[in-house]
Amino acid sequence: MAAPDIRPATEADLPFVTEIYEHAVRYGTATFELIPPDLTEMTRRFRTLVDGGFPYFVAVVDGKVIGYAYAGPYRPRPAYRFTVENSVYLQPAIHRRGIGLLLLQRLIAECEARGYRQMIAVIGDSANAGSIGVHTKTGFQMIGTHPNVGLKFGRWLDTVMMQRALGEGAGTVPAS
Ligand SMILES: CC(C)(COP(=O)(O)OP(=O)(O)OC[C@H]1O[C@@H](n2cnc3c(N)ncnc32)[C@H](O)[C@@H]1OP(=O)(O)O)[C@@H](O)C(=O)NCCC(=O)NCCS
Repeated sequence: MAAPDIRPATEADLPFVTEIYEHAVRYGTATFELIPPDLTEMTRRFRTLVDGGFPYFVAVVDGKVIGYAYAGPYRPRPAYRFTVENSVYLQPAIHRRGIGLLLLQRLIAECEARGYRQMIAVIGDSANAGSIGVHTKTGFQMIGTHPNVGLKFGRWLDTVMMQRALGEGAGTVPAS
């Protein structure tokens, strides 16, 4: 497989993004959504993020989008404005080839460049070794587990909270 190109997403990428996420919603426990959002809804979400100043990347191999990652607000209240929550999803066939790592590294670097100070991963399912592994490898620390807060596929699911400082983190206070 050729080396992936990690680049900012455009609306032309969203059909592929929608398809990748649809598989994760239908068959996976990383997301607690139960009904896959359609292209219109994914486009609405994309525009909200990009218009809000958040980065959104895709991984492209041989011209095909095979994964994506974005950051969004952690929580809406304004004191959280320097903290982002991240998402990263790949096509299932290309897991464990270093592409999630590349996407997450690029997302972290871009969030640092944009002045964000903390990144939080809310990982669906404490059995999600891939997500816990890639976040650990990119410097996230384990914060803790919310046990049994989700119900999907007829079973209770945990969320795992991981966190990483960005840039100067809490070492300084931003001017604005
Ligand atoms: C989570 C995900 C993005 C990881 O991407 P990936 O390309 O498969 O992972 P990488 O190959 O980049 O792995 C990087 C490192 O993470 C760790 N890792 C990845 N998968 C792992 C697994 N299944 N078990 C343990 N560690 C794992 C390893 O340290 C790995 O480095 P190594 O291969 O040199 O040992 C991908 O598996 C995925 O899309 N999963 C389904 C959706 C999901 O869970 N998204 C996260 C939502 S919070």
